[in-house]
Amino acid sequence: MARFGRSIAATLLFAALLMISTADAALWFDRIYVVIFENTDYSAAIADPNFAKWTAKGKKLTNYHGVAHPSQPNYIAMIAGSTLGVTDDSVHNLSQQNLVDLLETAGVSWKSYNENYTASPNVCNLAATIGSAVCPNQTKKTTKTTLYARKHNPFVSFTDIQGSASRCNKIVPATQLAVDKANNAIPQVVFYVPNQCNDGHDIGVTYAGKFLDSFMTSTFTGNAITGRTMVVITFDENSGTSGNQILTALVPFGTMGITVGSSDNTNFNHYSLLKTIEQNFGTGNLGQNDVTASPFNFP
Ligand SMILES: *[C@@H]1O[C@H](CO)[C@@H](O)[C@H](O)[C@H]1NC(C)=O
Ligand SMILES: *[C@@H]1O[C@H](CO)[C@@H](O)[C@H](O)[C@H]1NC(C)=O
Ligand SMILES: *[C@@H]1O[C@H](CO)[C@@H](O)[C@H](O)[C@H]1NC(C)=O
Repeated sequence: MARFGRSIAATLLFAALLMISTADAALWFDRIYVVIFENTDYSAAIADPNFAKWTAKGKKLTNYHGVAHPSQPNYIAMIAGSTLGVTDDSVHNLSQQNLVDLLETAGVSWKSYNENYTASPNVCNLAATIGSAVCPNQTKKTTKTTLYARKHNPFVSFTDIQGSASRCNKIVPATQLAVDKANNAIPQVVFYVPNQCNDGHDIGVTYAGKFLDSFMTSTFTGNAITGRTMVVITFDENSGTSGNQILTALVPFGTMGITVGSSDNTNFNHYSLLKTIEQNFGTGNLGQNDVTASPFNFP
């Protein structure tokens, strides 16, 4: 009887420890921001003074590659571990598992902030595009740009997100980031997608670099960087030249084994980014290319 009681107590203690270790599983960083730019070769991005400036504040990944062309399959890959057969920028409804399933099972908070997205309570906005404008201060292009594009917001294309009010409520306009920052309510996993002016899609890397500098300077203060915060600056794909090499920079706020001014020539791609998030938060994987991908190095 006493022995039986002890073994129940031991089991309960073990279960309690397991729960604590699951909740506290953040290995390298407490929060990650993934900020995604568009269609630029590695060489052009690193030659831009603003991308060079922010890359120098962290670790430069010098052998990182997009996984496909055009844009959309790269975004899908980042959260699904596969392009899921998507080979274009058209509207797709995808029924597969994705990063959100892993994060929510593990109790990790997330949000997708999208410039010029418009949200309604409890439903996802499934529009292919929203808003249009001539890019402010541009000199190169005078025609209107579509600001928000669904092809750059992979979350809305998954049916297990579309069908969930609470998940749809986590896909928000980018203006929500300042509100969440003021309320100290920024989640642990943040995807930030600039509009098609700011991401360089329609206007080039110089414009995107100016946006990057003002975004980084204004965003990463106060509540935005509580705990070990890592910002991943990346691109979806290159301009279409062979190898699909893109610039990715890991910018640390806080101490997490990322040496400022360092570089890493390991062969990485968007599956490595996904694997890094999974391994950091101990979520397990999706059984896709994330199984064999290597996470980033945190020596
Ligand atoms: C995707 O799902 C939405 C909502 O159910 C539907 O209106 C749309 O026609 C679907 N599109 C495709 C390409 O399946
Ligand atoms: C688009 O979104 C940006 C960033 O949230 C905002 O500054 C800008 O005013 C928006 N533009 C339009 C036309 O709504
Ligand atoms: C546009 O130019 C104005 C005036 O020079 C400046 O105040 C503003 O910050 C610029 N905006 C962008 C997005 O570059």
